[in-house]
Amino acid sequence: MSQAHSNFRTKIAGTGKALPAQERTNADLAKMVETSDEWIAARTGIRSRRILEAGRSTSDLAAEAGRAALEKAELKATDLDCIIVGTVTPDMPMPAVAVSVQQKLGAGVCAAFDLSAACAGFIYGMSVGDAFIKSGQFKRVLVIGVEILSRIVDWTDRNTCVLFGDGAGAAVLTATAGDDPRTILSTHIYADGAGVPWLNIPAGGSLEPTTVDTVQKKRHLVHMQGKPIFIHAVKNISRACLTALEHNGVSGAEVDWVVAHQANLRILEGVSERTGIGLDRFFLNIHKYGNTSSASIPIALDEAMTEGKVRPGQLVVMGALGAGLSWGSALVRV
Ligand code: ACO
Repeated sequence: MSQAHSNFRTKIAGTGKALPAQERTNADLAKMVETSDEWIAARTGIRSRRILEAGRSTSDLAAEAGRAALEKAELKATDLDCIIVGTVTPDMPMPAVAVSVQQKLGAGVCAAFDLSAACAGFIYGMSVGDAFIKSGQFKRVLVIGVEILSRIVDWTDRNTCVLFGDGAGAAVLTATAGDDPRTILSTHIYADGAGVPWLNIPAGGSLEPTTVDTVQKKRHLVHMQGKPIFIHAVKNISRACLTALEHNGVSGAEVDWVVAHQANLRILEGVSERTGIGLDRFFLNIHKYGNTSSASIPIALDEAMTEGKVRPGQLVVMGALGAGLSWGSALVRV
């Protein structure tokens, strides 16, 4: 930990991802609920998703992604000052997934905590990590977005089960000084609790503690009204991305890539229309992994960089919205 300087900026020094090997295709789902590959692909853009095998948990996948990001950043786990995990599917209600990740990585004693902002969890985590670094409190922060949504989805509800997948993505944020062009230019995070009824897990918390009745009524699983979420996702992700551009005096034409939350291809088409940034500059992998919530942006960023699509030094805008509603954006020269 360092308290020495307050003139740092933050850069993404390395990214990583971890995806379970097991695929569940739309055809597989069509055998489980009344649905079809045609419907799912046309309404969402999703063709397949990954499902974590029994016996492995959120922290296993998170640590795997974190290890990959550390490797790319050429840092050791013991170099970390802080681990932030964005997730709504922790190993257990307490303690935080981040402390299990710390243990699994062999990071030694450092700050480690979880952050609950649903699909916006990675943007929120990056915003908090960036603020720690800019303040001089920390120099190296590991931010992970991870979800094992297959464990909280009702696999008999076709309205929700076709949408989600499991995965983890990570980024190592480090302090950078001087004229390094690679930097987080800004983050903007927002929330509006009016969205609580639209997407939640009603039982299992203090409001409705777990009982046999809540389990029988499946109130410990995801409940969602898709339409209001869809409308607000298009509107708020677009607005947050445009705010990021305005804040930095950058035009949409100067953006090399949009790496946005992969929830629904139609949401991203709407964001493309509203921001005026062509869909050809959106990195898309929703067809392979479905909606992995907080993991989707870091998975996409890592994949885009590994494939050589997003190249070092390029300008990337990120945007996400999820339960809460919680949403945000980031403008990053990667
Ligand atoms: N297969 C076949 N039919 C289905 C399925 C399915 N899997 N799911 C719903 N339907 C049916 C509905 O029952 C409905 O039938 P009805 O007209 O007889 O009642 C019909 O399809 C149309 O349903 P709509 O709700 O109008 O479909 P819509 O075009 O809104 O798409 C969807 C639904 C995909 C859920 C969309 O609203 C959406 O993506 N919303 C965002 C939700 C989301 O992304 N949530 C994740 C977390 S938040 C986030 O990441 C942004």
